[in-house]
Amino acid sequence: MIATVTLNPAVDRTIVVDGLTVGGLNRVRSSRQEGGGKGINVSRALAAMGERSQAMGLFGGAPGQLIVDGLPELVQARPTWLPTGETRTNIKIVDEESGQTTECNEAGPAIAAEVLALLQESVLGELRPRDYLVLAGSLPPGVPEDIYQRLMTAAKERDVCCVLDASGPSLAAGLQAQPDVIKPNQAEAAALLNQPLDGRDAQRRAVRRLLDQGPRIVVLSLGGNGALLGRGQELVWTKLSVKTVRSTVGCGDTMVAAVVYGLQRGWDLLQIGRFAAAAAGGAATLDGTAFPCLEVIQELEREVVSEVWS
Ligand SMILES: Nc1ncnc2c1ncn2[C@@H]1O[C@H](COP(=O)(O)OP(=O)(O)OP(=O)(O)O)[C@@H](O)[C@H]1O
Ligand SMILES: [Mg+2]
Repeated sequence: MIATVTLNPAVDRTIVVDGLTVGGLNRVRSSRQEGGGKGINVSRALAAMGERSQAMGLFGGAPGQLIVDGLPELVQARPTWLPTGETRTNIKIVDEESGQTTECNEAGPAIAAEVLALLQESVLGELRPRDYLVLAGSLPPGVPEDIYQRLMTAAKERDVCCVLDASGPSLAAGLQAQPDVIKPNQAEAAALLNQPLDGRDAQRRAVRRLLDQGPRIVVLSLGGNGALLGRGQELVWTKLSVKTVRSTVGCGDTMVAAVVYGLQRGWDLLQIGRFAAAAAGGAATLDGTAFPCLEVIQELEREVVSEVWS
């Protein structure tokens, strides 16, 4: 079983206008809304690959219900409901004239300690040995920065494989629990290690330094420059060149889903890296937060370039 946890999900509401007038009246050309949040996205990406998962997390009010109701069939919702407060709504205003997007993100509802305790109980109650636990995304107000560390420490006692995709203090604290997999992007890894990551040598050193901190696998994602995966002494770089990038939203989440997909099947690092590059690159070819299906990923995998680094 794969469980994803989203502590701060969001409804992403996209509003399209023909030229944004700040301080004036804007006519909305079209609008749409979809459920988001990193763990939710990982579950949706897995579903597109044909893989079942359980989506756990903190949900509140009508926006929370909207996210739960919109999950694909292969995703089983296991929400912990907030007694008060609503799941946040993030607004993206797309200006078709300038091509610019203006984003307004809410922090999310404040979480009481008792609610967090219920969430922990719900997550840990579900886990069985050899399950996968994916912890991804930012924390809402009131949630301590060591929450991922605490969840993983308890999960690892149950022999669960822990995958962490976080940033800043929750990533730094989370590393203390020795996650099995971490997937920082370039900026997240640079901030964590306090060193710039431009160029192969710096990236290679960074992955080795991160491995020294305990994770079994480090996936350093490099946006349009692919990803560098490390396990033990192995280092593998993979990349899919995408001609027309439509939206990179959710590419990192797709990569996390792909890594879990491969690990579950016992693939070697190169196989995982190639599949992950195809999946994440495939997500970049799709509009909005959309995820490629297994057939498309397998097709794209033939175009992935990979190198084994020493
Ligand atoms: N422009 C691009 N062209 C091709 N592939 C891309 C592009 N951007 C991202 N990807 C793919 O997606 C992976 C993850 O991207 P990135 O490093 O930007 O992650 P991220 O910043 O964590 O993303 P997210 O916003 O989802 O958290 C990359 O390693 C790459 O495989
Ligand atoms: Mg990311």
